[in-house]
Amino acid sequence: MEKIVVIGSMGHAKVIIDSIEKARLYEIAGIIDTNRAEGEKVLGYTVLGGDDDLPDLIDDAEISGGVIAIGDNCTRAKVVDQIRDLIPDFRFVSVVHPDGSIARGVTIGQGTVVMAGVRINTDAVVGNFCILNTNASLDHDSRLGNFASLAPNAATGGNTIIEEGVAIGIGATVSHGVTIGKHTIVGAGAVVLTDLTEHVVAFGTPAKPVRSRKIGDPYLH
Ligand SMILES: CC(C)(COP(=O)(O)OP(=O)(O)OC[C@H]1O[C@@H](n2cnc3c(N)ncnc32)[C@H](O)[C@@H]1OP(=O)(O)O)[C@@H](O)C(=O)NCCC(=O)NCCS
Repeated sequence: MEKIVVIGSMGHAKVIIDSIEKARLYEIAGIIDTNRAEGEKVLGYTVLGGDDDLPDLIDDAEISGGVIAIGDNCTRAKVVDQIRDLIPDFRFVSVVHPDGSIARGVTIGQGTVVMAGVRINTDAVVGNFCILNTNASLDHDSRLGNFASLAPNAATGGNTIIEEGVAIGIGATVSHGVTIGKHTIVGAGAVVLTDLTEHVVAFGTPAKPVRSRKIGDPYLH
């Protein structure tokens, strides 16, 4: 099996580690996290160092790539940029839990993670570095932009367009044909019946924008 590193070590990384173990496509060589001491253990895997150590590790430990395991969409994008600055051709792999269901005609970009119980229906297009978290559902012909995320139990109807950097909160639903503009946050439990513009925070039933937001404003609390 190819050896990869998991970049990130918090709760989201633990769920990804479980998916990697169950999918049996890659061997986990260790964890990369600048905020942890080298040698620390995460689910039995050793912290090998931070981003800066990756170039040496790739040579020494025959690591062929890695999965980005950071839940916040903006932070994930920043870390991807940092790693590409260090190693322009770094190979970011995607991970799909074997209990995920991927229908015919679906495409999934690089660096995307698909957790247990996820349903991606026919002809949906999933971008790069997305998160489809536990039991999320993206229905037919929908598009999930780069660095966008569906939290656990979030669900969309068919033909939705969820643009780059959007986060759909836990248990939220997005009705068919709706477009959500880039970097918008849909709050937990919201029901989105009509389009939402970019860079807003929206929640409620039906979901309404409550304020604007800047890229990087926190939303995972
Ligand atoms: C939408 C969200 C980003 C708003 O965060 P915020 O701007 O910091 O909002 P606050 O927590 O300060 O709450 C402000 C008010 O909005 C209400 N509110 C916040 N989120 C809400 C939601 N999803 N639905 C209904 N009301 C909500 C709060 O109860 C509070 O009401 P109050 O003023 O009457 O007390 C956040 O609540 C949210 O839902 N994040 C997504 C979490 C998630 O899905 N995580 C996934 C983990 S995998």
